[in-house]
Amino acid sequence: MAVEQTFAIIKPDAVGAGNAGNIIQMIEDNGFNIVCMKKTRLTTAQAQGFYHVHSERPFFGELVEFMTSGPCVVLMLEAEGAISKWRDLMGPTDATKAGPDTVRGRYGTDIGRNASHGSDAPETAAFETQYFFNCFERL
Ligand code: RTP
Ligand code: MG
Repeated sequence: MAVEQTFAIIKPDAVGAGNAGNIIQMIEDNGFNIVCMKKTRLTTAQAQGFYHVHSERPFFGELVEFMTSGPCVVLMLEAEGAISKWRDLMGPTDATKAGPDTVRGRYGTDIGRNASHGSDAPETAAFETQYFFNCFERL
């Protein structure tokens, strides 16, 4: 399998609860290389732009409010098959259905407050990474 890169967010619920360190440990324990990482707080416009594909969905307003409710940690991860590997480690969107060894199972609450984000394809990984990191920030 080819080495690829993906984009991840430790969402405001997990950062606010003091679980960012635990999630970063899970990321490292599962063999990802953290290419770059920073703590930031999204503005409303940034959150709307990031989740633009969901702009017509009924939960969009709630999602933007949640994602701007506090700081988050954004990361670029690298591994063989990183996109599916990180989504597997996160678990399903609905944290109540996520297994105990997943990020969302351990640190999420429900379908909205689910502790983490992961890109779903190479195109979204590229878009999302450049949304937060410029070329000088990539180690
Ligand atoms: P993400 O993009 O954050 O990695 O999550 P995902 O692919 O597993 O799920 P997606 O369908 O892309 O949804 C994006 C985020 O919107 C919130 N959501 N709320 N209330 C709801 O029914 C609902 N559905 C989705 C979640 O925070 C989800 O991660
Ligand atoms: Mg998604």
